[in-house]
Amino acid sequence: MSKIDIRLLDTPEEMAAVEELERLVWPGDETEIVPIHMLRAVTNNGGVLIGAYEGDQLVGFVFGFPGIEETSAGPRPKHASHMAGIHPDYRDRGLGFSLKRAQWQIVRSQGLDHINWTYDPLQSRNAYLNIAKLGAICNIYIPEYYGEMRDSLNVGLPSDRFKVDWWLNTPRVEKRLNQEKRHRLDLAHFTSAGAVIVNPANIREDSLIEPFQDSPSLPASPAPLLLVEIHPDFQALKAASPDLALAWRLHTRDIFQALFTNGYIVTDFIFEPGSQPRSFYILSHGESTL
Ligand SMILES: CC(C)(COP(=O)(O)OP(=O)(O)OC[C@H]1O[C@@H](n2cnc3c(N)ncnc32)[C@H](O)[C@@H]1OP(=O)(O)O)[C@@H](O)C(=O)NCCC(=O)NCCS
Repeated sequence: MSKIDIRLLDTPEEMAAVEELERLVWPGDETEIVPIHMLRAVTNNGGVLIGAYEGDQLVGFVFGFPGIEETSAGPRPKHASHMAGIHPDYRDRGLGFSLKRAQWQIVRSQGLDHINWTYDPLQSRNAYLNIAKLGAICNIYIPEYYGEMRDSLNVGLPSDRFKVDWWLNTPRVEKRLNQEKRHRLDLAHFTSAGAVIVNPANIREDSLIEPFQDSPSLPASPAPLLLVEIHPDFQALKAASPDLALAWRLHTRDIFQALFTNGYIVTDFIFEPGSQPRSFYILSHGESTL
């Protein structure tokens, strides 16, 4: 891959390129696009729009704005990250990570220590980037967050979302963003340490993966670590079997809502590639979200 430049975007011409990339990443409905005038108004008022360029071509961007979090101690400033998109030909090369890292630096320089955003918890690549690579954590599940969505990535399924917290100044996040060597633990490490898979998936004869073998088993008393399996390629499943995709959505909605209510927090994610890839959220009990 040739050199990629990461830089702040602030001209209408640069924002026109962002609009175009949005259309490519979320095709199908013009109303799902954040237009130039909005990008311009927001970035003139503390918002942050960062692009990744190969030569003259914009191949990725991340966009967010300052916001207010209502907490028990009163209102608290934060940054709300709204969209990140990478050109399909440029995924899995670390650009998502580099853009979020730049966002982390700029938002810290604005004096803020917290970024949050939402994403579809069944998108395994997004989960791996957000939780494992960036160190965000989650204990908030919002069913049908955006109502009915019309773009082709989201159409046809309830728009459930994880709302994740990214605490910018914590050692957890600093270590991951400074790319300090992390010993990567796989499924075997967790299961041999006694972590239980709440919902082991079932691979059918037609190779489609069902959300569980038996009814999911939520522990009666808190376990230090639990694993929740998700489909490793939800986009492909949606195309192959919309009914099964909906079953995954409803099944994992129940599990996450029950676990979050009972004090669990998503703190890590395992992706095991290979001929039969598998993906798992790791949930801990009794940790602080900070
Ligand atoms: C989500 C998105 C922004 C990630 O960008 P990216 O540049 O591919 O991200 P990175 O390359 O930094 O990280 C992706 C990681 O996921 C891993 N990965 C690939 N397929 C995976 C899968 N099915 N499950 C889990 N992880 C997977 C990659 O190997 C990579 O990890 P590595 O660096 O350890 O190898 C990009 O895929 C995208 O634009 N998706 C569509 C739009 C979207 O969903 N935006 C986010 C919500 S607004």
